[in-house]
Amino acid sequence: MKKLLITGGAGFIGSHVVRLFVNKYPDYKIYNLDKLTYAGNLENLRDVEEKPNYEFIKGDITDAKFIEELFSIHSFDGVIHLAAESHVDRSISNPLEFVITNVVGTVNLLNAARHIWLAPNSTIKNPRFYHVSTDEVYGSLGETGFFTEDTKYDPHSPYSASKASSDHFVRAYFDTYKLPAVISNCSNNYGSFHFPEKLIPLAIHNIKNKKPIPVYGKGENVRDWLFVEDHARAIDVIYHKGKTGETYNIGGHNEWKNIDLIRLLCKIMDEKLGRKEGESAGLISFVLDRAGHDLRYAIDSSKLQKELGWTPSLQFEEGLERTVDWYLANETWLNNVTSGDYKKYYEGQYVKRG
Ligand code: NAD
Ligand code: TYD
Repeated sequence: MKKLLITGGAGFIGSHVVRLFVNKYPDYKIYNLDKLTYAGNLENLRDVEEKPNYEFIKGDITDAKFIEELFSIHSFDGVIHLAAESHVDRSISNPLEFVITNVVGTVNLLNAARHIWLAPNSTIKNPRFYHVSTDEVYGSLGETGFFTEDTKYDPHSPYSASKASSDHFVRAYFDTYKLPAVISNCSNNYGSFHFPEKLIPLAIHNIKNKKPIPVYGKGENVRDWLFVEDHARAIDVIYHKGKTGETYNIGGHNEWKNIDLIRLLCKIMDEKLGRKEGESAGLISFVLDRAGHDLRYAIDSSKLQKELGWTPSLQFEEGLERTVDWYLANETWLNNVTSGDYKKYYEGQYVKRG
């Protein structure tokens, strides 16, 4: 049985990746390593937790000794690394935490993999270290153009700088030690189990509760949205078929200005909640812009599409509607993750920004 370590599997994207792999590959043992920070939640994985090929390990990737021991106990055949601090606004308030988790944590995993896989007596055949990253490492686009795999790195936020740094370390380990690694850089994801600090789930949560929807600046920034299950499928394809040492961009050719997206969401939710047309749009509240706010992200994923045959499966309107349905049907999940500290943090922010 192949042993695959997935880090950050209790988070948003990680939980979809764990679910896909546990269900699709009964001959793999999937180990989900997660610290369970505010963003990690085992409720995201209730439907797979009893499966015989799944095991949860609570642990911290920044603890080098623990990570080395874990690799020597389990001799993983592969790693899909998603664990990270992932929210740009939090990185602006606390950049060091992003360096420690995203950079040091990644280097700890690379070291442990190197020590096990590249040891002269290693019996592990064709191991693979898959680092999951973001398109934000490429910086910001103007009105036109797309990020390709050759676009120069130009991160602006502490979050994207920490992810860029971790990408560079992964490449350095491939170049220096021949650690068999592959990287993907994906655009903004949306879907179920998304923590409501990011734009789409935050807006759904606030529309539902008739609270202001904070739109930064004039809402003219553009993001390229991809359904999270399509990202998980891309990760499956790249993990199994991607070429060692390569990078693959993942995106849905689905660009939206924030304000247009929020208006569409308001329209969908007015219909679903039986509200008057335009009622939810009345909640839109333009607030202070994010410092260093990247104007536009847009991904050219033709390499992944042509070389590995992946394509996004869903139209945005359909994916967004499914996402709204999920949040409305999963009130307990939403209430649980928005209790306690969440209220203090986000309601404080509205006061400050509004
Ligand atoms: P998330 O914040 O929802 O989940 C991160 C997970 O990592 C959580 O379960 C958390 O508990 C865990 N974690 C954090 N620090 C840890 C530590 N020190 N040790 C062990 N576990 C730890 O993030 P996400 O949105 O699911 O993103 C997952 C990965 O995908 C990240 O690497 C992110 O940079 C990347 N990514 C995200 C997006 C997006 O749109 N969300 C797009 C492209 C790439
Ligand atoms: P976010 O979901 O935080 O993802 P990222 O910053 O990684 O792209 O934000 C998506 C876009 O929405 C981004 O342009 C910032 C904007 N935004 C708002 O306008 N209001 C909000 O409350 C949040 C969280 C984001």
